[in-house]
Amino acid sequence: MLLGGCEGSQSALQPAGGAARDIALLWWWMLGTSTVILLAVVGLWLYAQFRHQDDSSGQAGPQNIADFDRITGRRWLIGGGLVLPTVAIVVLLAFGIPIGHRMLPLPLDEAPLRIEVTGHQWWWEVHYPEQGITTANQIHMPAGRPVDFHLTSNDVIHAFWVPQLGGKLDMIPGRINVLRLQADAPGRFRGQCAEFCGLQHARMRIKVEALPEEAFNQWVAARQADEARSVRDPDSPSAQVFDSHCSQCHSVAGEPTPGGPDLRHLHSRALLGAGTLRHDRDGLQRWLRDHQQLKPGNRMPSHDQLDDDTLSALADWLGRQQ
Ligand code: CUA
Repeated sequence: MLLGGCEGSQSALQPAGGAARDIALLWWWMLGTSTVILLAVVGLWLYAQFRHQDDSSGQAGPQNIADFDRITGRRWLIGGGLVLPTVAIVVLLAFGIPIGHRMLPLPLDEAPLRIEVTGHQWWWEVHYPEQGITTANQIHMPAGRPVDFHLTSNDVIHAFWVPQLGGKLDMIPGRINVLRLQADAPGRFRGQCAEFCGLQHARMRIKVEALPEEAFNQWVAARQADEARSVRDPDSPSAQVFDSHCSQCHSVAGEPTPGGPDLRHLHSRALLGAGTLRHDRDGLQRWLRDHQQLKPGNRMPSHDQLDDDTLSALADWLGRQQ
């Protein structure tokens, strides 16, 4: 593509749903219109440069030239300074306002799936109220039907944005904004917090996976099974480490966790630290040991007082599918 860097799973120019397609169409129209206007202005400017030389060798007297300039000057002012911008703005508004409205939730025959997403510094809490699932930093949704995202924040203003599916919407503390999105076909998309929210704003990514209906139902069943399981190996030494170092903020047993992500589904997450690094055994150990170097300023205290063996055992205990 001509514009390098505009492709990929986080590109608004590769729409994968209706809302994103509208936005991409508007974007292309705006780019086209602006390009035509830019070329016209440059053309006129070049014309003005050369016209002066031609006129100086012509037959017309100075008075005639002054009259001519005044009349054409006025036409240009009214045409180019008033009519053209008014028409351009009216056309773009007429085109853009309905697109904005289409993104708002509209009544449907069938209630869409509801997913509640809460922004935290610097991660995403993802809750499926009807299915009773709470996970983090990844969203699984069914493809081919609308999903209502109920968006809010736990601390500062964040913004939820999955460019291939639709526009961004602010997540405001104490308020719920609803964004209806639909993925046309199964696929993987990437989202990013789109409102500066502090030190690690850039490392606040979200992974979105649209699944065929049946695969989505299987995913729901697997997560519900995770939630139903009891605490993993409560007698393991790692359970005690977890209790004394992690349990103020994280849960492995379903208690509310005001601080960090719920870790019952950790084994099912592809990335750690809201997209900071890949989740495998080494990744989890590195994260536990070096998270303050990998994502400086994150809210988790450093684990300097824990030695490598303890952290490695903790990583095994946490990463296990119970
Ligand atoms: Cu959250 Cu930027």
